[in-house]
Amino acid sequence: MTSNTVCLLPGDGIGLEVIPAAANILEVLDIGLTTEKYPIGWQCFNETGEALPKSTLDAVIRSGLALFGATRSPSGGAPGYSSPIIDLRQQLNLYANVRPARSLPVPSSRQNIDLLIIRENTEGLYIRREHWQDQDTAIAERRITRASCERVATIAAKYAQQRKGLLTIAHKSNVLTLSDGLFLKVVRDTARNCAPDITIRDQLIDALAHDLVIKPESYDVIVTPNMYGDIISDLTSALVGGLGVAASANVGESCTIYEPVHGSAPDIVGKNLANPTATILSLGMMLEDLGHRDASNRLKLELNNTLAAGICTPDLGGEATTDIMLTSILEKLTK
Ligand code: NAI
Ligand code: MG
Repeated sequence: MTSNTVCLLPGDGIGLEVIPAAANILEVLDIGLTTEKYPIGWQCFNETGEALPKSTLDAVIRSGLALFGATRSPSGGAPGYSSPIIDLRQQLNLYANVRPARSLPVPSSRQNIDLLIIRENTEGLYIRREHWQDQDTAIAERRITRASCERVATIAAKYAQQRKGLLTIAHKSNVLTLSDGLFLKVVRDTARNCAPDITIRDQLIDALAHDLVIKPESYDVIVTPNMYGDIISDLTSALVGGLGVAASANVGESCTIYEPVHGSAPDIVGKNLANPTATILSLGMMLEDLGHRDASNRLKLELNNTLAAGICTPDLGGEATTDIMLTSILEKLTK
């Protein structure tokens, strides 16, 4: 990453509420990062005919750094529209989706959880050009390549090394012997080579889903193909407070896009009820990756202090608005 400019991509719905909160925080932290806002998403598509305008894509490529809110994708699809975050992951080769789940000081969070899901982000069933149908049959091909397995294994092994030293490879190679079989073999071999000191184990994805509910504290880093990672990261977010607190980073060679895991939340949009925690924790990940560790730690501390004081949005059982939560954090940061 080379730039000090963070591209803000609010998108649709509550993306337009939580990204400005992060921009406010960046301003108060005053660590030399500037922001520029760019359009993306469903509203942008309706206004311009493009969900991901070239000017937005170019700006993200130039800076290598973006904070994305959420976009709306109409169910059943719309002609000419595709989810711009999926397109960004493809076009910028953002090969790893890093999704932490860590306990928070709120009643709806279970305690002693600190795990990291690393989801392969460019292959598997989510690649549109590998889907087709006739009148009676729809097919989605599932491509897994050695190169993608190697790069996602490398980052997962590095994270495991920096954390508790335990890597779990989640797969379904008993049924998907070819595709998940390749994933398991290549990820295991690569991780062993690049981090010989860590413990590597593997687990079937359905058994993992079970154990994540029963004993989530026994996991450290979990690496898994695209769709499984999408699903189990929603599960792990529920263990620590729900979608309103789930942060992530889409990591590539020359670009990283940070984003709250949640969507545009049409049921609460415009009500000042969006939980900014997921976006704030995504910002914290960005600051840490950029080497602003102190700022990241201060931000997480004041977020935790705010939550521990019961100042939280209704999804966490509180009565605060987005603005009240933000004000509390900003006040603490400026003290
Ligand atoms: P969603 O994440 O938008 O909402 C699911 C539930 O969680 C809703 O009840 C919502 O109110 C709640 N929620 C989500 N974020 C919250 C927050 N920060 N604070 C408080 N409550 C929160 O998922 P849903 O409803 O399935 O999808 C809505 C739209 O978002 C769809 O058009 C979908 O395609 C899109 N979407 C976009 C994503 C993205 O841009 N990365 C990811 C997921 C969905
Ligand atoms: Mg998801």
